[in-house]
Amino acid sequence: MAKITFLKSEKTFEIPIGTDLVKIYEINPDLPLKFGCKQGECGVCEIKISTGHENLTKHTPQEKRTLNTRIKEGSRLACQCALKGDIIIN
Ligand code: FES
Repeated sequence: MAKITFLKSEKTFEIPIGTDLVKIYEINPDLPLKFGCKQGECGVCEIKISTGHENLTKHTPQEKRTLNTRIKEGSRLACQCALKGDIIIN
């Protein structure tokens, strides 16, 4: 299991390692995440990672195209990554 913490809403969830963030949301809609296209195109699911960048799967090519320079600022698209360990989201 890994912990996903949302700083703004002060919520922490325990999630099985390897789970796609979009699937976590479908199981637990209390997660403070929003999704639109779920294809990495609209940017609605953009999150800022505070801690644990290394604990998410690598950026997909579509994610790189959509986020562009915001990748360097710690942004990820929740619909494009899976959990490998603990993360903290701003
Ligand atoms: S839901 Fe559209 S980019 Fe993630």
